[in-house]
This record gives sequence, structure tokens and C-alpha cells, in this order.
Amino acid sequence: MNPPLRIGLAGLGTVGGGTLKILREHAPMLAERCGRALEITAVCARDRDKKRSADTQGLRWVDDPMALASDAQIDVIVETIGGSEGQARALVEAALTNGKSVVTANKALIAHHGIGLAALAEKSGAVLAFEAAVAGGIPIIKAMRDGLAANRFVRIAGILNGTCNYILTDMWVRKRGFDEVLAEAQALGYAEVEPSFDVDGIDTAHKTAILASLAYGIAPAIDKVHVEGIRAITLRDMEFADELGYVIKLLGIAALTEHGLEQRVHPCLVEKSSQLASVHGVYNAILAQGDAVGTVLFEGRGAGAGPTASSIVADLMDIARGALYKPFTLPVSALKIPSFADMAQLHCSYYLRLGVVDRPGVLAEITNIFKAENISLRAVVQHSHKPGEVVQLVLTTHETQEAAMVSAMRAIERSHSVREKPFMIRIEAL
Ligand SMILES: NC(=O)c1ccc[n+]([C@@H]2O[C@H](COP(=O)([O-])OP(=O)(O)OC[C@H]3O[C@@H](n4cnc5c(N)ncnc54)[C@H](OP(=O)(O)O)[C@@H]3O)[C@@H](O)[C@H]2O)c1
Repeated sequence: MNPPLRIGLAGLGTVGGGTLKILREHAPMLAERCGRALEITAVCARDRDKKRSADTQGLRWVDDPMALASDAQIDVIVETIGGSEGQARALVEAALTNGKSVVTANKALIAHHGIGLAALAEKSGAVLAFEAAVAGGIPIIKAMRDGLAANRFVRIAGILNGTCNYILTDMWVRKRGFDEVLAEAQALGYAEVEPSFDVDGIDTAHKTAILASLAYGIAPAIDKVHVEGIRAITLRDMEFADELGYVIKLLGIAALTEHGLEQRVHPCLVEKSSQLASVHGVYNAILAQGDAVGTVLFEGRGAGAGPTASSIVADLMDIARGALYKPFTLPVSALKIPSFADMAQLHCSYYLRLGVVDRPGVLAEITNIFKAENISLRAVVQHSHKPGEVVQLVLTTHETQEAAMVSAMRAIERSHSVREKPFMIRIEAL
């Protein structure tokens, strides 16, 4: 058998602990499949005395993660510390500079610094692998890099954040508001105490930028992702959506259009018949649309110790077998700088909810505003109400440009008949 692949594991939390568990429990099988052992040479975390989910007995402990980067007994670093800066970034940069391959689950690091890290890897001949950074256990990076490599990608659309999907699912199933569901999710440990990364769409934006880079041969451009989260979604919107034949999902979307490359993260109305509509709870799913293959759906667990570690160990196995690939499929010098589409140029249908006074002529006033912007309406729904209450009026449009929709919303907001700020959700045809 070939000499073992020697691994330095930095971070022993959820993902690091899960990785250690698979490496130890499946060791003979992994060695058989790779033709060489995957051997943990050293581990590192902050607190040596902390109780761990996986057995660290007999493993060499290192206090300073940077020591792993220069350890002659280590071939590959697994980084599961987290964060786009600080220790994680310093460790990965040092390891790649020293010619050690790196496997990481760190989407923030890859989205912000992936291109610099890929350049370091290229220079030293190391591999930078990050399957676990997008959609946990779903092998979407490998699928896009290898299995779907013959395609021009038309669009990638994904439910990429399990916390958001759990919250939206729970709001609908248990008929509760966003704040209530978030508070319970935090108490149960499903959502972070500081939930902004998840619920404000930042985590989905990191993953969208990574998927866009693989699909379109560009450097990850996180600053060019339009980002909206799910805080403003109400149960009322879900009820209206249901009545109109839709569900609400937070999607990360990358698509090449005539106006340039779209990278956007926002809540979407998705038709109930769409494959993404039935992806519930903490599950993630990605619809990849290629010109040759058509639409392919990937679904599975997007987070957690087992799924994320499954992807990390798969990357380690690739490296053990001698795989040599470019992190973003092309050499860094060949990555393109695309023109990005402006959100004002987005072309789609819209859902608009208005709180209006109950008096004759209001609907005509609103429809005239749409007419002036050349927007045609598809459906109008009004929920029954008590006399004197503000009426909730929902309109959906046929496809139009976002610029026209924004202009119509401004005009509607100025109307004396409108009592609440209009709330818009884009309808994504999948
Ligand atoms: N959790 C998931 O389901 C999931 C899914 C996909 C991707 N990811 C990504 O995976 C990475 C790790 O996430 P996680 O959930 O496993 O985090 P975590 O449970 O908080 O674990 C972080 C680990 O890093 C160690 N650490 C932190 N700062 C350190 C330092 N300065 N020096 C040495 N060790 C340090 C911690 O040590 P102590 O244990 O001693 O405190 C801990 O073991 C993140 O980039 C995350 O975005 C996570």
C-alpha cells in the first residue's frame, strides 16, 4: 500500500469532530478505497480539556494551529475553525504557501478570499478543496466541476441555508410568526444566538458566489451579490402565496442573462409544482440547469456534523488518490471578469401586498399606476376583513422589469389610499 496521507485537523467542533469520527470509524474502508490510509497526524482546537464528540485519544495535540502549517509530518490541513479572517485565514494561507493541500468547510473564507488562496495553491502545487462549504453533504461542487462540466449553465438556484428553510417551513406548518420561530430555533440550538448570517441571507450569498464562480468561470464576487433575507416575511404572505399556488423560499440564484451575470439572494415565490417547493425543514437543494443536461436537482442535508464531514472526507480521499484540479475549475489567470446585471434590469413576475383603505375606486387607482408603468396584472386577491380595518390587497404581475416595478411601488406608496408600506416578493419561475 502507498504511504498514508497525513492530516492535520484544525478545529474540533461540530464539523471537525464529525470529520475525526468518520476518519477513525471508517479508517479501513477509506484506506481500501483510496489505496492508502488517511492518517490523522495532529489535532488542534482552543481548549484541550473540552469534552469532544469524537475520540481524540492517542492523537498528537497542538495548541497553535499555525504549527500545523509548517509541520513536516503533515501533508494536508483540514480547516474547520471558521471565519473569513483571523486564525482560519492565516492558517490556510500559510499551509498553501508551504505546499500543503487544504480542505475546508469555510464558505466565508472561500467567498471572500478564495481567489488569493487559489493563487497560492497554484503556485505551490497544492490542492484547495471546499466541497463542504456549499450545501454540506450534497456533492454539488464536484458535480459542477466534473459530472456537469460539459454544460453551459443557464441558471443555478438553490435553497442553501438550512436555518432559513427550517424557519420558513415551521412558520407555515405551525402557523407562527418569524420572531417566534426564530426564538425557538435559537433555544433548541438550530439557529445561532447571532442569527444575522443566516436569516439576513449572508451565508446564502457566500454559497451563491462560490457556485457562480464554478458555473461561470469567474473569481467569487461576493460584493456583487444582491442580498435580502427572510426577516420581513410574514405568515400572511405565506397564506396569500398558498392561495395563489406558491410557497415562499429563500433562494440563492446565479444566472447568465442578456444584461450580464445575475447573483442574487432573496425570498422567492416558487410554484408548488416546482421541485424546490417540496424541500422542507433543514434540507438544502440545488437546481442546476445546463444547456445539454437540462435540469438536475440535488437535495440533502446542508449542515450538521455527519453531512459536512462526509464532504470533507470525500475531498481528502480525492487528494489521497492524487487528484489535481483548479479550485475554481480554471487557472486563476483564466478566470473571467464578467459584467454583472443590475437588479433594476431583472425580468420576472412579482407579488405585491398592500394595506389599503376600504373604499370604492382604490383598486382602479392601483391598476392605473401599473398601467402607467406598462405592467400587466395576473391575479388580484383580497382577504375578507372587518369594517374599518385596513384591507390586505395582493396583486401578482406578469413578467416585467424590476425598474418598472420599483417605480410603480413608489407611486403606490404616495397614494392616499395606501396605509402600509407595499411589500414585494419576486416570483421565480423554475
Ligand atoms: N456546523 C455546520 O453544520 C457547518 C456546515 C457547513 C460548513 N460549516 C463551516 O465549518 C466551519 C466550522 O464550523 P463548526 O460549526 O464546526 O464550528 P464550531 O463548532 O464552533 O467549531 C470551531 C472549532 O474551531 C476551534 N477554534 C476556534 N478558534 C480557534 C483558534 N484560534 N485556534 C484553534 N482552534 C480554534 C474551536 O475550538 P474549541 O472547541 O476548543 O472551542 C472549535 O473546535 C465554519 O467555517 C462553518 O461555516 C459548518
